[in-house]
Formats: sequence, C-alpha cells, structure tokens
Amino acid sequence: MNLKSTVLALLASTAGLCASAAPAATSTVQLLPNADAPVIKKEIYGQFAEHLGRCIYGGIWVGEESGIPNTQGYRTDVLNALRELHVPVLRWPGGCFADEYHWMDGIGPHDKRPVMVNTNWGGTVEDNSFGTNEFFNFCELLGCEPYLSGNVGSGTVEELAKWVEYITAADGPMAELRKANGREKPWRLKYLGVGNESWGCGGNFTADFYANVYRRYQTYCRDFSGNRLYKIASGANAGDYNWTEVLMRDAMHQFNGVSMHYYSVGDWNSKGSATVFDASDYYRTLAICLDMKTLVERHSEIMDRFDPEKRKGLMVDEWGTWWEVEPGTNPGHLYQQNTMRDAIVAALTLNIFHDNAARVHMANIAQLANVLQAMVLTQDAEMVLTPTYYVFKMYVPHQDARLVPLAVTTATRSIEGRNDVPEVSATCSEKDGVYTISLTNTSLEKGNDVAVDLAALKLKVQGAEILTAASVNDYNDFGKPEAVTLKSFKDAKIKDGKLNVSMPPMSIVTISLK
Ligand code: AHR
Repeated sequence: MNLKSTVLALLASTAGLCASAAPAATSTVQLLPNADAPVIKKEIYGQFAEHLGRCIYGGIWVGEESGIPNTQGYRTDVLNALRELHVPVLRWPGGCFADEYHWMDGIGPHDKRPVMVNTNWGGTVEDNSFGTNEFFNFCELLGCEPYLSGNVGSGTVEELAKWVEYITAADGPMAELRKANGREKPWRLKYLGVGNESWGCGGNFTADFYANVYRRYQTYCRDFSGNRLYKIASGANAGDYNWTEVLMRDAMHQFNGVSMHYYSVGDWNSKGSATVFDASDYYRTLAICLDMKTLVERHSEIMDRFDPEKRKGLMVDEWGTWWEVEPGTNPGHLYQQNTMRDAIVAALTLNIFHDNAARVHMANIAQLANVLQAMVLTQDAEMVLTPTYYVFKMYVPHQDARLVPLAVTTATRSIEGRNDVPEVSATCSEKDGVYTISLTNTSLEKGNDVAVDLAALKLKVQGAEILTAASVNDYNDFGKPEAVTLKSFKDAKIKDGKLNVSMPPMSIVTISLK
C-alpha cells in the first residue's frame, strides 16, 4: 500500500466505512406470489472468459504438464470452485479478442499452432494452446452450455460457417478434421454470437450496416446433425437505443437474442481503485450500477414494440465493475481486486435481472478469472474466491426458479445527478415449494430490521447465509484468511406470519423457506 492509499484507507475508516453501531433502520417487504410471473432463466448466471490477461492462461488453463494441480490441463481448484456455482453458460473467446480470433489457429497439435499478437489486450503473444477443443472440453467438465462469440470484424462468412460445422456436424470435411483432432462426436452448440461490440472493437459498424452484415453471416451458420443454434446479434453499447431499434426492425427474424453491454463505470478516464475508496465513492458506484435498471427497461420497451410476446432475449452478455488495474500489473490485462462493494454491485444487478426476467434471457458477468469483476483470482498455485463469487453462490437457488414479485418499502439515499440508492434491495423466487429470499442492506452505517410479509404462506426457515465484512474495502487476498466469506445467519425468524430479518450494515442475506 502506498502513502496515498494508506491515508485514504485511514480517512475511510474514520469516515464510517467500517460497520458501526448506529440504530437500525426498518424496511418492509411483501411477497406477491403470481403463477404468471416469469422464470428466472439460469443463464442470467452466465460467465464470460476472454483471451485477456490471465483469464484463460493461468486462470483456467495451465496445461497437463504444469506443476499446478490440474484436470486434463484445467486448474482443478478453479474447476471445483466453479462447479459450486452451477455455471449455466460460458461465453468465449471474447470480447474484443473474438473479432481477431481465427479458430483454425487453435486446433490440432499444440506445437503446430501459430502464434499471434493479442493486439487488444496488452500486445501479449497468444500461442493458441487453448482453442476450440480445449474450450468445449472445459464446458463439458463444468456441465455448462458453450456460448461462442464469432469473428465478424476481421473474419469471413466462410470461416464462421466452418467453425459451426467443425463443432456440430456428424459428417463431412469439418467433422473429419475434428475427428482427426481427437473428438469423434460432435459437440452441442446452442449459443452463437455473431460479432462482439460491432459498434466498436468488433468493426466500428453503424447499426444499419451491421444489421445487414448480421443477416448475411447468420444465413450460413447452419443447424447440423440435430443441433439448433440460438443466434445472438451483437447489441448496443449501454444507452445506444437506436442500435436496438434498428436491429429489431431489420434483423429480428434472423436472431433469437440481441446483446447489450453495460459496465458500472462513472468516468472512463478515471475509473478509481478497486480497493481504496471512501463512502461517497461507494454510494456513487451503487447509483451507477443501478443504471442497469433503466437500460434494461428502455431496451425492453423497444423490443416490446416489435416482439410483445418477449420471444427474443435481451442478453446482457457483459456487465460488472471496471476499476483501474492493480498497481504494478499490465494495464492491458485488466486485473483488479474485488471487495464487499463489488459483492453489493453484483447483488443489486442480479436483482434487476430477476425483475426483468421475462426479457433478460441471459447475462454474463465479466469475467470468470483474473479479469475485471472476477469470480476467482489466481497467483501461481494459489486461488482466492472473491466476494462476488459468494454472491453467485448464494444466488444459485434462484436459477430457473419462478420470480415472486415483491413490494418493498425502504428509505433511499439520494446521490447528486444519479439514481437514488435504496437502503434495502430484495428479490425472491420459488422452485419446488422452496422460497428463496435475498436481501441486501446497502447502508454502511446502519443495520436494517426487515419485516417480510409472507402473504399467508405457511413457511419455515430452512437455512440462511450472510455475506458481510468488517469494512466495505475488505477483499480476499493470497496467503491470508478470507476477509469476506459466507457465514451461516441466525437473525431470520418467523413470528405471526412475518419473517423478521435483522441485517447488519453492508450485508447480503439469503434465506431459504419451505
Ligand atoms: O470485458 C472486457 C472488454 O470489454 C471486452 O473485450 C469488450 O467486449 C468490452 O469492451
């Protein structure tokens, strides 16, 4: 820690960043069960892994010869940690990298694969040792759906068409090539993205031009051998509503979903430190992350005009926090730490996706390991689980569960020029008679006594977990005991048909009821 960070950290702790004993506030939550409420698709819990910094190399893949314990070349610790999250879908190989990736460079014997320069991300030399076979095998080990991001920016229609054939065809020249590379059976490929950020690093297209390019590329991405592609058009940058309008108007009949990217960044020229921040930075970040609500709602309104039955998915296939890189690391590798603040951003954002589950059919946090708002961080043979990882773990029961709409009454904090931040944010779902309620107390200063009206449902608490920290700046680091970790929670009790939850400041609680 340098002098500036030490001073800031001291100021932060005296400014109330640590949990204090101020009197608790109160909030109410009412369950409004509705059989017509949408199911929260498990794909909202999707992940994203790009050839960027140490996400793939070092984070997932170390190779079979590595001294780091591995399973067929994949880090065993990371694999086991991810299995706990029930990862439903994994997007790969980018990001911006996807539009410079030529898949044929990443197949066949490792020593014959050409190298390339990863021009997007730090000019790192990419040896292509992690390619199509390695990605699909990883998805099989993880039990998730693969989501390919195809190269439109610098690739060809033929190249993308042949990639789909290589992966999914039972017979023919591409199938023979796959078999020669050791994979007899076709893989299943559901999600195919046609380009990434085509308005920017993916080719700098205009919306009208991209809509036509999209139509052309997707024509030649065929359904082989019983495989059915779910095609995703490269969507808007945050609030570029015209992009969604044009794609819905001109290409909707050729896609199943359209993407949208939004990162919780206030100022791209001054993103701020992941770990050194004060209370005002914290609340401002929450206000910024809540822009996701407006974005999802406004893109949905446009989509509703063309597709009132909500058949087409809004795929938020990149989201999360984006801070300055950790001091001393490659600026092009986007390696950042992850504090209790990131955990709260994750919970608030997932709650927004739940509320919009009828339209948000997938979301992919950026990224899986060692990049941006990661699930895991690795350093040689060590791995730490981030606070964000624990939110995803707590929220597993919401995957594929039916949303239970809520009425929430809570105080709000106003942030100049931004969204108000609610003291308590809540979400609830039901699956197989089990109700899962997740509550987030955003206040750094005050606990919150939340009274949940269970709508006359005869429920008992089955279990509860809490994620909190001594300071919102706390994070998990190598060689140290975990500062932010899940604990069992006892302050959730039912009395007279109400669930009473006493939440400490800056905490996330998930309660399971049956
Ligand atoms: O996730 C990092 C980068 O952010 C992706 O490569 C790109 O799509 C986005 O701009």
